[in-house]
Amino acid sequence: MSGFSINWLDLREAADWRARDDKLLKQARKWLTSSFALETDKTVVDFGAGTGSTLRAFADALNTDLQALCWRLLDQDPGLLAEARLRHGHSHRLETYELDLAKISALPLADAHLITASALFDLVSAVFVDTLVVALQSQQPPAGFYAALNYDGTTIWTPAHPLDDVVLEAFNRDQQRDKGFGVALGPGAGSYLEREFSAAGFKVFVAASPWVLNGADSKLVDALISGIADAVAQGSTIDTASLQDWIEFRKANIVIGTCIVGHTDLLALPDAD
Ligand SMILES: C[S@@+](CC[C@H](N)C(=O)[O-])C[C@H]1O[C@@H](n2cnc3c(N)ncnc32)[C@H](O)[C@@H]1O
Repeated sequence: MSGFSINWLDLREAADWRARDDKLLKQARKWLTSSFALETDKTVVDFGAGTGSTLRAFADALNTDLQALCWRLLDQDPGLLAEARLRHGHSHRLETYELDLAKISALPLADAHLITASALFDLVSAVFVDTLVVALQSQQPPAGFYAALNYDGTTIWTPAHPLDDVVLEAFNRDQQRDKGFGVALGPGAGSYLEREFSAAGFKVFVAASPWVLNGADSKLVDALISGIADAVAQGSTIDTASLQDWIEFRKANIVIGTCIVGHTDLLALPDAD
């Protein structure tokens, strides 16, 4: 078990789907089909795959080239991988690997054309990114990289509460806590990826992919408030009564309020020139 339940991943998927930058996703798909047009066995390796959300985002019924893809799903949680096999084992070519991504030299990257991830890279460390960039450069031909939904540290609520900024600061500090890879990049993930892949000679494309939530997303917003409050409580920089006041106010305003959570998507393609 990883702490990411099927229920939570299902809850966020509709918001993730709306948030993903469509242009970048299409560009990634197009690059995959045009760059390796003659190869029949194209392999996409999805890091922290969960139940297969990235696979679903890439699925394009109209594009037969994409149907020939082999999806190699990597995750530490056997329950999530079993769910991915249940959902996609009959319709897609799937390989699933239960492993710890932090052991990067042991990852099954052979023959990978594209590495993908969503809602993962804010959990990883700078060293993990550095090592990954080198690994992708040394693939022959070099692999591309697509990482969606990297949290950028911004969350804007309406109506406002006086503690919104303090809660956000405390939450963002928690985002940098070690999640199994060393000190996490947290809100700095998007800019770190952009800098390191650019420095390594990749062509890098970045787009905003915010969650834009309202009363129609009440279950997700409810879970988000609880998740933020739990993370903030661990840091104990806000007294319990004030935090409780914030939680009650936020929950009372779920239906009439709005919430925008900033993310970025990034596509890094090896420069063919
Ligand atoms: C926020 S979830 C995202 C899941 C999926 N990509 C999605 O968008 O629905 C993060 C995923 O990364 C996996 N994960 C986190 N740390 C990991 C590690 N060290 N090794 C392997 N998987 C890990 C979790 O099990 C979880 O499935």
